[in-house]
Amino acid sequence: MNNKLTKLIKYYSLINHNLIFSNKSINRYNIGQPFVQKDKAGSLQKLREEINKIKNCKLKENASNLVFSDGNPNAKVMVIGEGPGANEDKEGFPFVGRAGQLLDKMLNAINLSRKNVYITNVVNYRPPENRKPTEKEVERYLPYLKKHIEIIKPKIILLLGSTAMNAILKKADVISKMRGKWIEIEINKLKIFSIVSFHPAYLLRQPDQKKFSWIDLKMIREKLRRVS
Ligand code: URA
Repeated sequence: MNNKLTKLIKYYSLINHNLIFSNKSINRYNIGQPFVQKDKAGSLQKLREEINKIKNCKLKENASNLVFSDGNPNAKVMVIGEGPGANEDKEGFPFVGRAGQLLDKMLNAINLSRKNVYITNVVNYRPPENRKPTEKEVERYLPYLKKHIEIIKPKIILLLGSTAMNAILKKADVISKMRGKWIEIEINKLKIFSIVSFHPAYLLRQPDQKKFSWIDLKMIREKLRRVS
């Protein structure tokens, strides 16, 4: 590798640009990862490291991988689920199993995808046997989730299921009552529109409820037109 190329690689890693180097022209440019400002990428990395350092946590002890996030850190929409399942634990990314495939379809229905949405969970390690995270576990991970929101600065947060709703809105109401409404929240001094909707895993069990999710998704599509 010549000196000029080494300098170019250094420069691109400095500006956080993802490149694949190959002699084949087709692979010589951006592989489709979004450009993320250096301070945002650094803050996300720092947060990931902090979560990685968590001690005395049953979730972490039983999990194979830290499941941090997927999608575009510059997104206006942030999706928050409950916690990783078996597939997510194996792959290290949120919503990659059956519920994730449905989530992708739901997002696609309003012209969104992981390219313009950011996805994370209330807890970052898989609860054993796919149980719900306990209240204590949710409280332990909440400061990290709030920090995550603060870094991403989304305009809209989609809360999928009761765990995400309870964690962020502190409401113990049933989802069917809470879904489909805009609720303005303040997280670490940041004002954000949030909306609760059914978790895709629930929709897989109760497909007749998808009609309500569709209403919520259309509300997001409308809101996105108005938020800058
Ligand atoms: N369910 C969730 O809440 N999150 C995931 O990442 C996968 C399934």
